[in-house]
Amino acid sequence: MALTDPPEDALASDCRTVGDLVALARRRLPDDVWDFVDGGAGTEATVARNRAALDALLFAPRALRGAGTPRLATSFAGLELDSPVMLAPVGSIALLDPRGAAACARAAHRAGTAAWIGVLSSPSLEEVAADSPGPLALQLSVRSDRALARDLAQRASDSGYAALCITVDSPTDGWRDRERRHILQRRAALTTPNLDRTGLGRAGAPTMTWEDVAWLRDEVALPLVLKGITAVADAERAADLGLAGVIVSNHGGRQLDHQPAAIESLQRIADAVGDRIELAVDGSIMRGTDVAKALALGARAVLVGRLMCWGLAAGGEDGVVRALELVTGELRTTLTQLGVADVGELSREHLMLGA
Ligand SMILES: Cc1cc2nc3c(=O)[nH]c(=O)nc-3n(C[C@H](O)[C@H](O)[C@H](O)COP(=O)(O)O)c2cc1C
Repeated sequence: MALTDPPEDALASDCRTVGDLVALARRRLPDDVWDFVDGGAGTEATVARNRAALDALLFAPRALRGAGTPRLATSFAGLELDSPVMLAPVGSIALLDPRGAAACARAAHRAGTAAWIGVLSSPSLEEVAADSPGPLALQLSVRSDRALARDLAQRASDSGYAALCITVDSPTDGWRDRERRHILQRRAALTTPNLDRTGLGRAGAPTMTWEDVAWLRDEVALPLVLKGITAVADAERAADLGLAGVIVSNHGGRQLDHQPAAIESLQRIADAVGDRIELAVDGSIMRGTDVAKALALGARAVLVGRLMCWGLAAGGEDGVVRALELVTGELRTTLTQLGVADVGELSREHLMLGA
């Protein structure tokens, strides 16, 4: 343990760095849950690549721009955000906290950002909405069943959710060694109040197609986003369908191993369709510098998955707020160092690409 690790009884709100928060979460979580959240698919090559590709990007700061205090407000798929750091959907969040989705939704509201609520999480999507003024967006893991997707979308709309995404990178669960080692009986036993057993069964088979997406777009009034796009051709197709956005993501390296880093996919997708569809990205975003790099490459906002989980494990709702404060605090500092007045101004000019 590092000398700076916080004591076991530390409050998450006392954690001074992201590293402190992660260390506290590590000590509070049983090994199987830690491994489930921290781990990824296969040899975890994509998990490592997500991080390495962010670290490899260098900034190109400019001097004497007179930028003043930077503004962080942005929007994505109709969600108005005071900060570009959104919370990612985490289906099995009940492993960390039985009311985890509600705690995260409240934390997002306090931090001026949106929470994407996983349909496979707890408590129910209606309870989450009753507990937090938002903004909230619902993530669907439906793989096959149109009627089920429409029902869930309608419930989200009725409860005040402002956007919807379909996760398209998970036609089946990833092959995760760390999860298999523990067998994770706790995870297998998990259910969600959002779907009964029949609903969970109907959500299973991977037969969804682009026609289903087009159908859902026409059935649902909420802005519709696809999460888990990495191919340029798929992003082009999403733009052709007039969808509200794409979340460029390899699921934090948890689904198909040996893919490009999400930030590498973002760069290619932004080149091809960045002017036709709104982009967000996730994958190993842990620091304000990561956020600045993602925005410079064409994302309007980012999502944090594991960081949110570590905050929740370290200190519940307050821990998630602390995680967001640390990242946005460093983002503000980064923008000031770069001479940028507004997150919307970040561009490739602020990176040394090809260096
Ligand atoms: C424990 C865990 C469970 C997740 N469950 C879901 C899910 O149910 N649906 C989904 O679209 N993404 C899910 N994700 C992926 C996240 O939404 C996000 O894409 C990913 O965590 C981003 O990478 P990061 O964890 O490195 O920030 C999950 C991630 C984790 C860590």
